Amino acid sequence: MSFAAKPIDTADKVAFYAELAQQARGLLHGEHDRIANAANFAALVWHAVPTINWCGFYFFDGHELVVGPFQGKPACVRIALGRGVCGTAATTRETQLVIDVNAFPGHIACDAASRSEVVVPLVIDGALLGVWDVDSPEPGRFDEDDVRGMQALCEVFLHSLSPALKSEAAA
Ligand code: SME
Repeated sequence: MSFAAKPIDTADKVAFYAELAQQARGLLHGEHDRIANAANFAALVWHAVPTINWCGFYFFDGHELVVGPFQGKPACVRIALGRGVCGTAATTRETQLVIDVNAFPGHIACDAASRSEVVVPLVIDGALLGVWDVDSPEPGRFDEDDVRGMQALCEVFLHSLSPALKSEAAA
């Protein structure tokens, strides 16, 4: 397989995320392995999205969140459900948009440089798979366009895991 991630114009966020989702679809196409696709997905986002200092997965092991493939500095390995931004996204199953992590009760500072973040819960057939976490050293780095863009990217990842889910999405 050869895949060349093209540089994307980041001025128009909606177009940027549409293009990135297209690239993610191409990158993950034909592969269903969770770790392989998570690793390539994190690398794609890391190199495309400006002003981030961490992006990656935490997977639910049936008890707590455990770090998965990511880009950035080494991170906390285990996060209890309900703890921090990731644990909150996992329990509420709602995307967390945090403008200032210092104002978020219980925020877990894996990298002291992180100032804002988006965490998207990953749910398949009603079951919690984990969360996708993106951090920035800039306060207020993310807005609703980033939330929608990251959610759309996560859909691409989730659909890549199961051919059944993929055909459902195409129907
Ligand atoms: N910020 C997260 C912890 C994970 S790291 O930032 C990689 C949180 O509060 O859940």
